[in-house]
Amino acid sequence: MKKFGILLLVLAMMMACLNVAAADDATLVYASTFVAGTDGWYGRGAQVYRTTEATLKTEGRSSDWNSPGRDFPLVETGEYKLSVEVFQDSVDSANFMISIAHTKDGAETYENLARGTAKKGEWTKLEGTYIAGDFDKYVLYVETTGAPELSFEIRDFRVDAPNGVPAPKPKTPDMVIEEVAIEDMPSLKEAYAGKFDFGAAVPQYAFSNGKLKALILKQFSILTPENEMKPDAVLDVNGSKALLKETGDETAVAVHFDAAKSLLRFAQSNGIKVHGHVLVWHSQTPEAFFHEGYDAKKPLVSREVMLGRMENYIKGVFEYLDANYPGVVVSWDVLNEAIDDGSNWLRNSNWKKIIGDDYPNFAYAYARKYAPEGTKLYYNDYNTAIGGKLRGIVKLLNTLIPEGNIDGYGFQMHHNVSFPSIQQIRTAVETIAAMGLRLRVSELDVTVSNNSEASFKKQAKYYADVMKILIDHADQFEAVQVWGLTDMMSWRGSQFPLLFDGRGNPKPAFWAVADPENYQ
Ligand code: XIL
Repeated sequence: MKKFGILLLVLAMMMACLNVAAADDATLVYASTFVAGTDGWYGRGAQVYRTTEATLKTEGRSSDWNSPGRDFPLVETGEYKLSVEVFQDSVDSANFMISIAHTKDGAETYENLARGTAKKGEWTKLEGTYIAGDFDKYVLYVETTGAPELSFEIRDFRVDAPNGVPAPKPKTPDMVIEEVAIEDMPSLKEAYAGKFDFGAAVPQYAFSNGKLKALILKQFSILTPENEMKPDAVLDVNGSKALLKETGDETAVAVHFDAAKSLLRFAQSNGIKVHGHVLVWHSQTPEAFFHEGYDAKKPLVSREVMLGRMENYIKGVFEYLDANYPGVVVSWDVLNEAIDDGSNWLRNSNWKKIIGDDYPNFAYAYARKYAPEGTKLYYNDYNTAIGGKLRGIVKLLNTLIPEGNIDGYGFQMHHNVSFPSIQQIRTAVETIAAMGLRLRVSELDVTVSNNSEASFKKQAKYYADVMKILIDHADQFEAVQVWGLTDMMSWRGSQFPLLFDGRGNPKPAFWAVADPENYQ
C-alpha cells in the first residue's frame, strides 16, 4: 500500500513537471529581451545601447573581442544552453561567436561556445552549450571573427539549464544556503499583513518561470515592473511620429504596454497590487521624446510642446491602464530621481532644460488630473540618508505638498552593508515622516562583497535593523519592496543583495526580514 502511494506521488510529480514544461519555460534561467533596459549588459571596449526595437546595439569597435557582455553567476558543473540572435547590415556576411571569459584567482581565460554566420540584413541565431568549469567569475559575450569594426545588434539572449542548476559546490568561505520548498517558507506578505504591503520588483521574464511565479504568489502582495513601465518601454516613438503626421499636432503621444502585460495580467488574475514605475525620469526615456518631430537629430521642442507631451503621455498611460487593468495599479512614482547629488537641486535633465524648474509641479498636476481616484502619487529618490541630498528632497517636496497633488515619498534604499548607517536611515525616515506624507521603501537591496557566512549574517542584521525602523513607522508606510527576486536576477547580482539566492532559496536576510524582532 505504502509503495503504491509512493508510486502515485511520483506519477503526480511527473505530471506536474510536464504541465509546468508545457505552460512555462521551465528550463530558462536567464533571458535578456532588451524590451526595456540593457539588463546589466555592458560594452567590452565598445559602446552598447538599447534600441527602441528591443535590441542591444554595439558600436565603436576596433577589435573582434570588442563586444556586448554580461556577468553571469553560473554554477560549476551546470550544463547551460545558450542562444542569441545577431544582426548586421554592413557587409554581405559576417561570422559571430558566443564566447565566455572566465576568471580563476585573477587569471582570465576564454572559450568559444557557439558560432554562426549572419548574412546582411538577416537576424541569425547562434546556439551553443557550456558546462561551467571551476571559476570565480563568468562573462558571456558576443564577438565577431574577422570583422573588428563591424557594428551589430543582438536580441533575445537566453540561458537555459535543461537539467536544472546544480547546488553550488560548497567551497569555503561561501555559505551553503539550505534548500527550502516554497510551501515550507514563511510568507513575508503575511508577516507584514496589517502593517504594510510587502513586495518586489519583477522583470518580464519571471512570468514564464513556474518556480518564480510560485515564489511571488507566496511572498508578495505588491509588484513593480523592474523596467517595463518606464518611458522607454511605454512611449511608442514610431506610433507618436505617425500620430503627429496624421494630426499635425506636435504634442500627440502614443503609448503601448507590450512589455508590462505579463506582469499586469498576473497581478490582475491573482489579486496582487501593482506600483507603477515611472512616469517622469531623466533616464530610460527615449531622447526623441524631447525633440521636434520625435526626431533626436532635430532641435529640442518648446516648453509648451513639452508640457503638452508630458500631459498626453500621462493621460495615455492612465487611460490605457484604467481601460484594461482597472484598479490594478494602486500607486505611481510620478517623478524619479530629480535631485542631483552634487548641487542637491533639480538635475539638469531634458525635462528641466525644456520646461524649467516647475516641471515637477506640472507632472503631479497632470498625474492627479488623470489618475483614477484613490491612486497614490509618489516622489521616488535614492541617497535620502545623505544630509545634502535629504535637504534637496525636502525642498522639492515642500514645493509640491501645498499644491495637493503628491501623496507620498519612496525611499529607494540601494544600500550596502556598511553604508549608510542605521542611524542615518532612521534620521532620514523621521525627517520625511514628519512632513506627513505616505511612505514606502520602493527599491530595497543591500550589497555585500562576497557570499561568505559572515557577510550574509551581517547583511541579515542590516535588513533586520532597517525593518525595525519601518515597523516603528508602520502607520505611514504603505509598502516595502525589494528590488528583484533572487541574487541571480538582481541588477547588482554580483554583490548578492537580495533575500533569495540564485536558486531561489532563502538567505539569512530572508529569515531576518521575516522576523526582525527576533533576529540575533
Ligand atoms: C534598474 C533596473 O533594475 C535595471 O534592470 C535597468 O537596466 C536599469 O534600471 N533606480 C531606479 C530603478 O529607479 O528604475 C533602477 O532599475 C535602479 C535604480
